[in-house]
Amino acid sequence: MKIIIINGPNLNLLGKRETGIYGSKSFDDFFVEMQFKYREIELTYFQSNIEGELIDKIQEVGYSFDGIVLNAAAYTHTSVGIGDAVKAIETPVVEVHISNTFSREDYRHISYIAPNAIGVIAGFGLQSYELAIQSFVSGK
Ligand code: DQA
Repeated sequence: MKIIIINGPNLNLLGKRETGIYGSKSFDDFFVEMQFKYREIELTYFQSNIEGELIDKIQEVGYSFDGIVLNAAAYTHTSVGIGDAVKAIETPVVEVHISNTFSREDYRHISYIAPNAIGVIAGFGLQSYELAIQSFVSGK
């Protein structure tokens, strides 16, 4: 089973960015833990601060991978292009957020991803990613 985690802008700063909201663990450390824990699956990771690069990656994996765990970060709330890419591909997408976007500013309540995702997981810290991985592993 091939699953990719795709992270959008500023998520390369996890561990040192607004730690009260996003926690103090770096994504690289968390990702190594996930690779070890889910050794039976092929788990890869891509991050970009650039909208078009995120779209390119979604297109690239979107016909061959079994699942995409997508945290488009701020682009979640603005990007028709990423929303269209998610709609275009065949690989199922789970939208994730570290924070509970619905308990934050109104503009974070909008998602251009969610209408075409199989589900949304928000507010569980980095565990949001693991819950998404588990949903693919358990066949949801
Ligand atoms: C985020 C929530 C977004 O609103 C924000 O722009 C992010 C991170 C999250 O994981 O909680 O950069 O996607």
